[in-house]
Amino acid sequence: MFEMKKIAASSKQELYSDLLSQAKGLLHDEHDRIANAANFAALLYHSLPDVNWVGFYFMKNGELLVGPFQGKPACVHIALGKGVCGTAAQTRETQRVPDVNAFPGHIFCDGDSLSELVVPLIHDGMVIGVLDLDSPKLARFDEEDQEGLEALAKVFLDSLS
Ligand code: SME
Repeated sequence: MFEMKKIAASSKQELYSDLLSQAKGLLHDEHDRIANAANFAALLYHSLPDVNWVGFYFMKNGELLVGPFQGKPACVHIALGKGVCGTAAQTRETQRVPDVNAFPGHIFCDGDSLSELVVPLIHDGMVIGVLDLDSPKLARFDEEDQEGLEALAKVFLDSLS
């Protein structure tokens, strides 16, 4: 059984380097998208400070559909180009939003969320979905978090093939 180590990192660099190793260990023997998304969301949710929602939306029938996550129940359907998630999927660029109230068209799922980071998931050149993280703190995610979470998203994507 996978044992989640308590991460006692003294810097973000150390935190993300530990998380990368843990994510690789957690996903290395499995290729199933739902199984890996579920474990990946649980790992991040329980390891990162100040997050209230961590999870996936996957493309289905031309829109985003909620996938495995940790946090409060969330919006189910998100159209491409709508909200932070739909914008990340459409532009294929990570959206780092320090204040969700200042993001035009932000979709409120959990009233506790104040800042958000959404990484598009591109597999074989196709956007298959997004990885979404919400925080109850303003400007919770900085450039280092963005780099760390993009690297982690790649571990998830690599596990699928
Ligand atoms: N806030 C997101 C919706 C998803 S939830 O945060 C879980 C958005 O604007 O796309």
